[in-house]
Amino acid sequence: MPLKNDLLLRTIRGEKTERTPVWLMRQAGRILPEYRAVRAQLSGFVELVKTPERAAEVTIQPVDLLGVDAAIIFSDILVIPEAMGLPYEMVESRGPVFPRTVSSKADIDRLKVADISDDLAYTPEAIKLVKKELDGRVPLIGFAGAPWTIFAYMIEGSGSKTFSKARAMLYTQPDLSRQLLSMITESTIRYLKAQVAAGADVVQIFDSWAGILPPLHFEHFSLTYIQQICEAITEVPITVFAKGAYASLAQIGRLPCATVGIDWNTEVHHARSVVGNNKVLQGNLDPAALYASFGDIKQATHQMLDAFGPQQHIANLGHGVYPDISPDHVRCFIDTVKEHHTKPI
Ligand code: CP3
Repeated sequence: MPLKNDLLLRTIRGEKTERTPVWLMRQAGRILPEYRAVRAQLSGFVELVKTPERAAEVTIQPVDLLGVDAAIIFSDILVIPEAMGLPYEMVESRGPVFPRTVSSKADIDRLKVADISDDLAYTPEAIKLVKKELDGRVPLIGFAGAPWTIFAYMIEGSGSKTFSKARAMLYTQPDLSRQLLSMITESTIRYLKAQVAAGADVVQIFDSWAGILPPLHFEHFSLTYIQQICEAITEVPITVFAKGAYASLAQIGRLPCATVGIDWNTEVHHARSVVGNNKVLQGNLDPAALYASFGDIKQATHQMLDAFGPQQHIANLGHGVYPDISPDHVRCFIDTVKEHHTKPI
């Protein structure tokens, strides 16, 4: 099925485009009352993720309601630990919680490399439904967490300001840490390959907790495994978003990926000079800018677009959209990107 709007894919291929494509991390979710209505009909978030028809429905909502240039499959990065044998719960206003965590070799020996057709078939199934329903309107982004971020949740058992248990493990049990990181990596490669086989046009790796590691640990315990994933997924372009990994931006720029995501603390010209000209950059408006008035949102968005320049850029926020942002403010951001001066081709 040829895509009617392939702006995102043409940008990722490095082609000159008539305007900058735009989508938002966490666009499928709580900012939309329509999402909350679907979730309320089920027992909760985890059931929604595991019900392909409903996951497909909330994936397409932002395409219809916000006018973004890409859909991102509705799921969560924490389906990987669950498929490896460590289930999670999503607790309202607290976030994810793992009833069991990992702290010893015996714990790791009880886990397995995820078997996608047995334990994770619901995501590829949802992708097939989305592709059919989208009928080529926009491309579909698949995703997974980076091994380090997944490891951090499996050790810690929930979100944390410091992830000190997970960081401690890298110092006290480095071999065991590498064993678990390798199992997560293999599970993730299988999962992303299944997403691509089902129809994902692009995949994004979210390393949300990259920024809490010292640079050497980021390179040893995170980048190594992201590199393995990038080398294994050759079928579609990859985006790597390692939030806060400022000291390692040059190394991230050398990964075999097409796009590098940057957060709002990263200065755009600095990122471009460090990453070089061979990659597309994605980002990076401060998600809090969307609390401002329409006029100020427009101004901040134009400023961001001017900083990146007209090509090799995918407009996005510097992290996921905050759940209490009004959809009208999100639409203002999206419409401003679409109306930004037409580019000379
Ligand atoms: O981007 C999208 O629209 C696709 C869906 C998506 C979700 N989670 C749905 C979700 C994606 C891409 C994710 C990725 C994810 N999940 C990350 C990486 C991106 C990031 O924000 O750093 C992380 C760290 C997680 C783990 C996770 N899931 C946390 C920490 C939480 C609780 C905090 C929060 O934002 O609510 C979740 C819950 C979650 N994942 C929700 C959604 C829509 C909210 C749950 C609900 O519906 O109540």
